[in-house]
Amino acid sequence: MLLLGIDTSCDDTSAALVEDGSRILSNVVSSRVELHRDFGGIVPEIACRSHILDLVPVLEAALTQAGRTLQDIQAVAVTNRPGLIGALLIGLTAAKTLAYTLDVPLVTVDHVSCHIYSVHMEHPDLEFPYVSMVVSGGHTHLYHCTSHLEHCLIGKTLDDAAGEAFDKVAAILGLGYPGGRNIERAAADAQPGAVRFKRPYLGKDSLDFSFSGIKTAVLYHVKGQNAGRSRRTPRWDKKPQPRASMQQVAAEFQEAVVEVLVSKSIAAAARVNAHTVTLGGGVAANGSLRQAFAAASEKAGMRHAFPSSVLCTDNAAMVAGLGYHYAAAGRYADLNVDAAATSWQ
Ligand code: KG4
Ligand code: ZN
Repeated sequence: MLLLGIDTSCDDTSAALVEDGSRILSNVVSSRVELHRDFGGIVPEIACRSHILDLVPVLEAALTQAGRTLQDIQAVAVTNRPGLIGALLIGLTAAKTLAYTLDVPLVTVDHVSCHIYSVHMEHPDLEFPYVSMVVSGGHTHLYHCTSHLEHCLIGKTLDDAAGEAFDKVAAILGLGYPGGRNIERAAADAQPGAVRFKRPYLGKDSLDFSFSGIKTAVLYHVKGQNAGRSRRTPRWDKKPQPRASMQQVAAEFQEAVVEVLVSKSIAAAARVNAHTVTLGGGVAANGSLRQAFAAASEKAGMRHAFPSSVLCTDNAAMVAGLGYHYAAAGRYADLNVDAAATSWQ
């Protein structure tokens, strides 16, 4: 079954053609990072304007690269939650229009479920149950996954998502937007340990996360103890001297976050008696996280799997991929289905 997938949940505009849930014929992503860079983050209004300009060319490119026409499409899958509401509505409206005019079924999927699913596209032998950690700009969530259609939330961030923490720390370090990749590059030139940030474990048995404390520790380290509290610099803090270089701070921050992410994923799998752990979402593209995740799962006698980088960050192939399983189960959407800013869990 050939599905067209569409994702406009955040700033990237993406369309993909995927056969039977995992054979990717095309996966086109248009990123407009340069439009958001000056603002240090994603501006919803700009993201929406970009989707309107880019969606039709991206759809055409996806068809051309796949060597197919609109008439070949057997169902349309689209992200309808969670994300920027205006951005979601643009993709959803396009998907409804195509499904209606082509007279094919419409499937709506949750973006976080798509990040979980993305690992299956390159690992067809991946078996349930497993624990998936989704680490993106909006989520740091642990799920117990028992089928393509069912997963249960077992741990989550209490404040900043991992990607959000990477982006904010990059801004503090003057590394610019988007932060995750820039932190990884800066950290590659240094060893962690020149400064020490406390790992936030939140209690012995907690599967939840909190990264706002590390972010504040980085801020204080770089700008002095009173950073952010007062516009006036107190006498004792007139010339704050960072004790470590920017690269060393980036390396230590990355290591602290990675350590917590990895240890909680392994603990979560042990808790639900799963023997496999997986990753998904933009932060899963981080090389240190992937290495530490692989090493820790092997040490714990567990299998691990993660998507290639292009399937970690936002893309529509994962939407068409998961959409296939919804279609196969007869879970179609009505044409009056709405978008929602929050996840279903
Ligand atoms: O999944 P994604 O593309 O969009 C959301 O659904 O949020 O994730 C984007 C997030 C951003 O916060 C970005 O800084 C982070 O993923 N990211 C990374 C890396 N590449 C992207 N974080 C750490 N290391 C990376 N290499
Ligand atoms: Zn995402």
